[in-house]
Amino acid sequence: MASSKSGYVSDVWKDSIFDGKVVFCTGGSGSICSAQVRALVHLGADACIVGRNEEKAKAKADDIATVRSGAKVLGIGNVDVRSSANLQSAVEQCVRELGRIDFVIAGAAGNFLAPIRSLSPNAFKAVIDIDVLGSFNTVKATLPHVIASAKAGGVGGRYILVGANMFQTGLPLQTHVGAAKSAVNALSSHMAIELGPLGVTSNVIAPGPIGDTEGMDRLTPASDVDKASSAKIPLGRMGRVRDIADATVYLFSDAGSYVNGDVLIVDGGAWHTGGGA
Ligand code: HXC
Repeated sequence: MASSKSGYVSDVWKDSIFDGKVVFCTGGSGSICSAQVRALVHLGADACIVGRNEEKAKAKADDIATVRSGAKVLGIGNVDVRSSANLQSAVEQCVRELGRIDFVIAGAAGNFLAPIRSLSPNAFKAVIDIDVLGSFNTVKATLPHVIASAKAGGVGGRYILVGANMFQTGLPLQTHVGAAKSAVNALSSHMAIELGPLGVTSNVIAPGPIGDTEGMDRLTPASDVDKASSAKIPLGRMGRVRDIADATVYLFSDAGSYVNGDVLIVDGGAWHTGGGA
């Protein structure tokens, strides 16, 4: 434990801070969420990642498990977050095999670029259902375990919902995503109020444009510098998955224990310039 004359004592920043804890993550096969989980596993946690594609979920789980000797990482496929039954059964498997759930990352998201004039009601609904209903279903299925974790003391009892910085400003071709992510923020705020008295926290991490992801490559196949410039990012570079992983570690660590109902925007300051993802 490091201490100093200032009286500040830090027992937070060490490699074992999440020892014995379990994180459940939707969208965990994707670039951002897998980086979040990888960091937590590196710091001692076991993990369960769920996704629609079984092969991808299992391969990603095996890959993440290599970051720490003895790490248990479960990959569960055929889970569509729009199905509460799918999530319920994934949560049961997670608890059966890993024993508990302390942290939840609701990261599954749908996205494509489409102008509102050609966006069909079903396309709008698909993204709302994946992002909003999917986050709700994830919370509902995990809640008893997360409350139990909060009651047990130590770090635990925490939710992170993955949003996007575009709720602050409008962005062309992203009506459906902006609407969905705004609702995700509201969901988290209400959870923070209702679950806070049980010791459970809920926060949103709202990434801006993250360069090293499959999703961004698919949405905007330009160079990193061009993307940063067109997204008007004051720091002059695209975000990296590592930036989101670091924010996640902070919010789940003891250092983040008093943060509840917040939206942590991690976008290099882009939203101040009207830049979006
Ligand atoms: C217009 C589209 C479309 C597109 C699908 N649809 N793709 N409309 N442009 N590119 C329409 C379909 O025509 C259909 O409407 C409706 O959406 C549902 O499509 P389905 O394929 O049947 O739905 P489903 O299988 O449920 O898939 C929905 C999906 C999903 C949203 C397209 O496959 C998906 O999201 N895939 C990508 C996942 C992803 O990239 N996640 C990372 C997100 S990153 P009709 O009317 O024809 O029936 C992220 C960060 C945010 O979110 C910031 C980045 C900018």
